[in-house]
Amino acid sequence: MMIEKKILLQKQKQYEKECIALRRRFHQIPEPGLEERETTALIASLLEEHGIKSYPLEPTGLVAYLGAKEGYTVALRADIDGLLVEEETGAEYASRYPGRMHACGHDGHIAGLLGAAFLLKELEGELSVRVKLIFQPSEENTLGAKKVIAQGVLEDVDEIFGLHLFSDMELGQYSVEAGPRMAQTDRFSIVFHGKGGHAGKPHQCVDATVMAAEFVLGLQTAVSRETNPLKPAVVTVGSFHSGSQYNVISGEAVVEGTCRSFHEDVAARLKTSIEERAKHIAACYGGKAEITYDFGSHPPVINEKNLSESIKKEAQMLLGYEQAQVEPMMLGEDFSWYQKKVPGVFAFVGCHNPDQKECFPNHHPCFDIDERALKDAVLLHLSAVLSAQSRVEEERSFLKEKSKGKRE
Ligand code: NI
Repeated sequence: MMIEKKILLQKQKQYEKECIALRRRFHQIPEPGLEERETTALIASLLEEHGIKSYPLEPTGLVAYLGAKEGYTVALRADIDGLLVEEETGAEYASRYPGRMHACGHDGHIAGLLGAAFLLKELEGELSVRVKLIFQPSEENTLGAKKVIAQGVLEDVDEIFGLHLFSDMELGQYSVEAGPRMAQTDRFSIVFHGKGGHAGKPHQCVDATVMAAEFVLGLQTAVSRETNPLKPAVVTVGSFHSGSQYNVISGEAVVEGTCRSFHEDVAARLKTSIEERAKHIAACYGGKAEITYDFGSHPPVINEKNLSESIKKEAQMLLGYEQAQVEPMMLGEDFSWYQKKVPGVFAFVGCHNPDQKECFPNHHPCFDIDERALKDAVLLHLSAVLSAQSRVEEERSFLKEKSKGKRE
């Protein structure tokens, strides 16, 4: 059974306005990670209105099923959390809550997945795969996916698809390209302990500023001299605090930063390098380094090759044009935890209207999406389902032919 492209596009059109209205509704009620109660309740009631039963997750988020009652299962995931950002878009549908905003487009992710779900529900009889909707909490602080997996959500899932709207990609651009797409992001904090004292008597002191400064400058060679040049990586020190007065030698310096890479071996090497450098530099001066390293809060996002190829074909057919070539991003996404368990593809979707001069990046107080991108989001979710369906049916007809051959 094949679902016709014409019917899917008709249905998408039918839900287009509702999808935009829903996105605006969610935009008004942003909630931070693991506190998405209002959001979860609204998603559940919308699903129910469309005859889709949902099951709550702890503490927030939910899952739902549609399509075949059992068998091969493709999961579609949307993250649902907002950010602690004061909205400055001035939009009529702006956040109702001070200090909170859907500044990363997750409101659009929710609406896109709901749109796809409503439409698929209508065509349920024609689905030969089961579709599992995952509305995941708390992506921004990378806690959500792990919590979802710990609740057994992937146990009946064979493959997974997710997407992100990006304002630095133009409207109409999409990418489901294979391979590394987003980075493993690690975080470190180092306290250099020295001995404070008078600026005029350095020999009586251990200067924490000098230790930390040497560490930061030396660190710039960690990538260029210690990691494979064919595997990109970034080390950034974003915060450096030491001392309190010009004529006092600082006894303590705090340095904080992040490492990003697409390969776990590179990430591991950088961790060792940072720890060793901090320890040895501190020891050279007679000080100490206290290191906190948050390693692997999530792995890199790596799209499985065959799945990516298969979804690409369906997407090209549904959207009517080829995917863009988009370089991997040194941003993180906890979607990667799902990909550790089952094959998965994570798509990038452009939402910036090139006719508008200004482009505010994700997480900016003025970030907004061109809502026409929601159509692409819906069609990409459908592409993932079609891709699974066509592979499952191919397999079935192959098995049928084989058993026929045996009988003859
Ligand atoms: Ni995001």
